[in-house]
Parts: sequence; C-alpha cells; structure tokens
Amino acid sequence: MLQKGQWSVLPREGRRVLPPVVPEEGIICRVSMLILNKTAGVFFQPAKRKVYEFLRGFNFHPGTLFLHKLVLGIETSCDDTAAAVVDETGNVLGEAIHSQTEVHLKTGGIIPPVAQQLHRENIQRIVQEALSASGTSPSELSAIATTIKPGLALSLGVGLSFSLQLVEQLKKPFIPIHHMEAHALTIRLTNKVEFPFLVLLISGGHCLLAVVRGVADFLLLGKSLDIAPGDMLDKVARRLSLIRHPECSTMSGGKAIEHLALQGNRFHFDIKPPMQRAKNCDFSFSGLQHIIDKIIMQKEKEEGIEKGQMLTSAADIAAAVQHTTACHIAKRTHRAILFCKQKDLLSQSNATLVVSGGVASNLYVRRALEIVTEATQCTLLCPPPRLCTDNGIMIAWNGIERLRAGLGILHNTEGIRYEPKYVVPFIIFMQAAFVKVKDWILLSYALLE
Ligand code: KG4
Ligand code: ZN
Repeated sequence: MLQKGQWSVLPREGRRVLPPVVPEEGIICRVSMLILNKTAGVFFQPAKRKVYEFLRGFNFHPGTLFLHKLVLGIETSCDDTAAAVVDETGNVLGEAIHSQTEVHLKTGGIIPPVAQQLHRENIQRIVQEALSASGTSPSELSAIATTIKPGLALSLGVGLSFSLQLVEQLKKPFIPIHHMEAHALTIRLTNKVEFPFLVLLISGGHCLLAVVRGVADFLLLGKSLDIAPGDMLDKVARRLSLIRHPECSTMSGGKAIEHLALQGNRFHFDIKPPMQRAKNCDFSFSGLQHIIDKIIMQKEKEEGIEKGQMLTSAADIAAAVQHTTACHIAKRTHRAILFCKQKDLLSQSNATLVVSGGVASNLYVRRALEIVTEATQCTLLCPPPRLCTDNGIMIAWNGIERLRAGLGILHNTEGIRYEPKYVVPFIIFMQAAFVKVKDWILLSYALLE
C-alpha cells in the first residue's frame, strides 16, 4: 500500500513501486524547498547549514521508491522557464512551466535582460513545482539535465547556474543538453520511433532539416540562411499590430497569424515561395518578411491609416504569409525526403518525418507536410502541440536518452559553460547543397485548402 503523500501524481498502470520507505508527509517538500532555496543562490540566501542538516537526517535510499531512472530537466534557453521530472519509461511524473510570452508581447519582442530577470524570479518555484508534482525528492533523481545551448546567453546562464548549484548540493550527475537535440528526440517519448528518422525543426529561433541517426548523431541536410520561420511570423504579427486584435492579444505571433488566417483569403496576394531555384534543402525567410513589409506599407497607404493601426486586409495578409511559409517549408522538406531516399539514409520500408518546434503546431503547415509525406510514402509524426513548444519534459527526456546511451553524463562540472551559438557543432554537415534530386515530383502545394 502506498502511504498518503507518497505520490502527488498517482502512478500510471504498470509502474512498479516498492513498499515505501517514505519520510513523514511534507518532508520531501520541505527538503526540496530548502535545497532549491540554497540553489537559488544569489536570489535567496538560506542558511547553508540547515540544508546539510536536513539532508543528513534524511536517510534516503535512491531507487527504493522508483525502479526506473529519474531525470529532472530544466529549460531556460529563451523565454520559458520550464522543468519536469521524467522516468526511463517516458512517464512524465511532474512538470511546470512559466511562459514570458505576455511580457514580451507588450515590449514588442524579447529583451534579454528582462527575460533573464523573469527566469531568475521563477526558476526556483518552477523546479519546486515540478518536483512536488512528481512526488519525488531531489535525492531520488538519477541526474539533472539542463539546456546549455543554443539560446540567449543571459537566459541560458540562469538555468545553468541554478542547475550547477543543485548538482553540487545533491551530488548528482549533470547532463548538458542541446536544445535542438531535445526537440528532435521528443517524439521518442510519445511514439515508438526507431533511428534513423528525418527531423524538421521549425521554431522562433531555429529552422533545420536533419537525419537523426542516434541520440547524439545528427546529419544536417539544410538550415535557414537567415531568420527562422517563427521569428518571421512574429515580426509580421508585430508589424500588423495583432496584439491590438481582441482575439489575438495574448497569442504568440505565429499563433496569431494562424488564427487570423482562418478569416482571410490567401489569393488576394500572389507571393512566390523563396529559393525556388536553389537545389538544396536550405531555407530563407527574411526576403518573405520584406515582401510582406512592402505589402503592408502599400495597404496602409491605400487604406489611409498610420503604422500601428489595424489594416482591414490584415487577415488576407496573414493567410498569404502563412500559405507561402507552409509551401516553402513543404518544398524544402520534400527535397530532403527525396534526397534521403536517393542516398538510402532512411528506412526503406518505414521512412519517417518528425516535425517539431513551435511552428510545427501550425495546422496549415502540418497539412502542407501531409501532402508531401503522402506523395513520398513517408510517415509524418508530430509531438502534441504542448511538446512542440519549449518545455521541461523534452529536456528531461533527452537526459533519459543520454543516460540510457551512456552519453555526455558529467560527474565533474568544472569548466562547463553555456554556449549561445553553435560553438561546438553537434551535427555533421552533409553537403546536400549541390546534389541534384533527379526524381523531383511536382506536387501541387496549391492543393492546400
Ligand atoms: O519552439 P518554440 O516554443 O521556441 C523556440 O523558438 O525555440 O517556438 C516559438 C515560436 C514563436 O516564434 C511562435 O510565434 C511560433 O513558434 N509559433 C507558431 C505557432 N505557435 C507558436 N507559429 C505558427 N503557428 C503556430 N500555431
Ligand atoms: Zn525551442
């Protein structure tokens, strides 16, 4: 029998739990709170001795309660402070997230020192909430996994310094996580997907196509040459002042464009997808952004309104930009699939395309990708929307994947640094740029409803 308070999230069917060696109800929370207070370091200064006293008097036997490995994942690479505890079998035991979207919407974009301050204010609470919801004490964790690259330097720094203090207090292994690797592997938490598979990551900060051959073995086929699609959509949404639209005021730029596009007519503007002639799998979105900027300026003149006011044609513009973005993404992905088939890089019988990142939650983009995968006999898989955007679960799961593969588990964190840019390439580049895809199938992306 489980004692009251042992689980705040009840075990799922099939999870085996040994008879409890559980401290008094509430102690787990108090201990983790103290550790986290200590870990918050410069933000809160709890009595150091108290933490050690509590830990000493608290005779945990790691693995007694949970047969499976448990990883705490911490994510602060951009504007979400997120944490989760995930076990080896993919059970999410607890999670918590604080989104800064509303604040950044008001300031018209992410201001790094503001993001840093918000991470600082929330990280302790979020980690505490994830741990409490999981019903685990910090001492039961097998490791702590944290995003260290790529991302905003000031944001990454908060998550890393918090994690390193926690690691030191608890004497746990540390697993540094590459944010894009975590996005790519999330699908293995929700679906049974074997390596290799093709992944398309489309978010506010990134845009890439890669063959995932193993946990830390990626073959990059293409990437954005300038900005990411989410960034472009965010900029268009800002230029259209969608924050003033009553239905869109709390949505991210991309989500607002998707919402408004439902009411618009994409045929009102004829915009060609970028890079039509480039025989590679790269992307570009800044040209499209400039075209849209020009259209908006023209429309403002025609409608006789000032910059910052809502255009009556905003929905049509949203529909056109969404359609062009979806076509561009679909065409480059189509090329990558054909390239993989030609080079035998994916399973012959069950080639899989995984799509993730914030923009992957866009249903119109998904529909365009469905057209491509249907035509090329590929399976299309997307994590559920809440796992497509940044979250702590994907970081914890990446930790589990690395733990299982025995890759990048640090017992000494000396010299560990965050890396805002891809300083050390985690990916091997494949020069898809000059490879001609012979059996290019002409798909009608205009089929998109
Ligand atoms: O993956 P994510 O949460 O953060 C990173 O950028 O890493 O992605 C956020 C991005 C934002 O640019 C946001 O506008 C975009 O994803 N996004 C969307 C949608 N929901 C979020 N873009 C298009 N359609 C959506 N429904
Ligand atoms: Zn992301």
